[in-house]
Amino acid sequence: MQNPPRWVSTSGDLERPNAARLYDYYLGGAHNFAVDREFAEHTMKLVPTAALVQHSRAFLRRAVQACLAAGIRQFLDLGSGIPTAGNVHEVAHRVDPTCRVVYVDNEPATVAHARTMLRDNPCVAFAEADVRDPEAVLGSPEVRTVLDLDRPIAVLMVAILPYVRDEDRPVELVAAYRDAVVTGSHLVLSHLTADYRPEVAEALMHVAAETQSPVVARARAAIEPLLKGFDLLEPGLVPVTEWRAEEEPSAGDETVSYGAVGVKR
Ligand SMILES: C[S@@+](CC[C@H](N)C(=O)[O-])C[C@H]1O[C@@H](n2cnc3c(N)ncnc32)[C@H](O)[C@@H]1O
Repeated sequence: MQNPPRWVSTSGDLERPNAARLYDYYLGGAHNFAVDREFAEHTMKLVPTAALVQHSRAFLRRAVQACLAAGIRQFLDLGSGIPTAGNVHEVAHRVDPTCRVVYVDNEPATVAHARTMLRDNPCVAFAEADVRDPEAVLGSPEVRTVLDLDRPIAVLMVAILPYVRDEDRPVELVAAYRDAVVTGSHLVLSHLTADYRPEVAEALMHVAAETQSPVVARARAAIEPLLKGFDLLEPGLVPVTEWRAEEEPSAGDETVSYGAVGVKR
């Protein structure tokens, strides 16, 4: 790319489509490149990606609202992507403008742009870190400055664990975040699965394998251990479109992701 926009970090790989920028495109955002748009248009012919992303974001909003209703006022959003319209801090600040939010992503263009977007908001920060390194995330200046880990927080892992391969030990990874937060903290988790529409999940894995960000679908039996140590809010671990869907009836009924919200015991 000859002249990347000013919000783009030059250290990122701009030649290949990237999950954060693809997500932004599916959500109707403007923070993506021709390589992402071409790939997204190609993908949408094979799988209903835009609808699946909208379902995931709708689950995220409903889950954040549930955390707010339980009194949570601090959020750590792991693998947040670009904080486009309707993101965590916007949902939270509608309820309480003093809510504190730290977004985390390791995609340089996402981080550069998000920091520009958020710079006037002292309650919100963006940490550039790899979520597979909980020590780096939890020890980041943003987490240490913005969040108080002696009080309950919500850890959001929405559509991020499919990027964590089995050899990166996803169960131990979630447990490390669980062990770092106090009782009463919440976990919001969603995960790609082939349990319902295997052909769609397979197609998603196939197309993601061509990007910088391959994904893995997991079965219910592999997702349940991720929730160890958390009591699940109703309705438990269900397809994201069924998680309190009555609060947002336009969500649609077809998905390839499980979602759950748990409270640390
Ligand atoms: C599918 S998007 C999900 C965005 C957001 N959580 C949501 O639900 O709307 C996945 C995001 O995770 C980020 N990501 C992938 N692997 C990561 C890692 N190891 N550390 C930090 N971020 C990562 C990608 O850059 C991308 O922005």
